[in-house]
Amino acid sequence: MHTISDYQDNFLAYLSEKNTIKEPKNLYEPITYILNLGGKRLRPVLVLMASEIFDTPYQKALDAALAVEVFHNFSLIHDDIMDGAPLRRGKETVHKKWDVNTGILSGDAMLINAYQLFENYDGDIYKALTSLFTKTAIEVCEGQQYDVDFEDRDDVTIAEYLKMIEYKTAVLVGAALKMGAIIAEAGMEDQERIYDFGRLLGIAFQLKDDYLDAFGDPETFGKQVGGDIIENKKTFLYLKALENGSDEEKRQLEGLFSLKDVNIEEKIETVKSIYDSTESTQATRQEIERYTNLAFETLNDLNVSEEKKILLQQFGKKLMNRTV
Ligand code: IPE
Ligand code: IPE
Ligand code: MG
Ligand code: MG
Ligand code: MG
Repeated sequence: MHTISDYQDNFLAYLSEKNTIKEPKNLYEPITYILNLGGKRLRPVLVLMASEIFDTPYQKALDAALAVEVFHNFSLIHDDIMDGAPLRRGKETVHKKWDVNTGILSGDAMLINAYQLFENYDGDIYKALTSLFTKTAIEVCEGQQYDVDFEDRDDVTIAEYLKMIEYKTAVLVGAALKMGAIIAEAGMEDQERIYDFGRLLGIAFQLKDDYLDAFGDPETFGKQVGGDIIENKKTFLYLKALENGSDEEKRQLEGLFSLKDVNIEEKIETVKSIYDSTESTQATRQEIERYTNLAFETLNDLNVSEEKKILLQQFGKKLMNRTV
């Protein structure tokens, strides 16, 4: 096994070898741009780590790791168009720097490129990887559609929200780990267990993403703080505040999430203060911890050594405590 930062370094070296600008430039420059913007590289690291957890050198998993990161970055380009987001990783989003059409087509090419990368595997492994990838990618689309649909609904439940984030975010985290397990030809039960670990960790991860969207430090967060509030996103913070709030707090919150043309700065400040006063902020932190612990419980039955489980736990704790 290697350390998390070793996996990161090795992945980055592989990425820079493969990520080159070709013609037509207007198709490939945005791809290189987004892939070089940085980011936590959490999904490719999980692919590499899972492969070694099941005793296969990470080198064999590099193409799958790259496929997952390329797919993730494709989904970010399209997500930023859908969310009207100006900033990504502290820099202009692709559709702001270029335009929406460029974002659509460069994103499409990245999705296709992700599929191509799986062609570097043979036989049963190729088949298992592509069928997992296809299932995951369609679920991400479903999750993204729910996310957008919920903006205009005022009756979203917490159960619906959890399903939505499971699809838009968590299944890809699970799939990243399962891909490493597939490449290592781990047993079916272990493949499912590690998928479930990732899925539960992914739910915690998106809860934290929503939390940071409201309460992150604008200097370091890299995205527009308050973006979800501006877009009327039905996050856990919002839904819990409605559940816990007084009639007056509920009326105010629902009012702010239905009006257009409100003063944005004022809206963000008021909504955040309602998240605090209803103790939704605190409930969200607890929910992040709860899902992280649920993820850790799935490790009990995994057929790998304690040291390897500890590595996965360290990774989970790092995600829970992150600030970006
Ligand atoms: C952002 O993912 C999109 C979500 C699913 C929340 P990350 O937070 O992993 O983004 P980067 O790749 O580190 O920038
Ligand atoms: C994005 O969720 C999920 C996908 C990209 C599929 P968000 O919209 O919350 O992600 P950020 O906050 O823009 O990174
Ligand atoms: Mg977004
Ligand atoms: Mg979004
Ligand atoms: Mg977000």
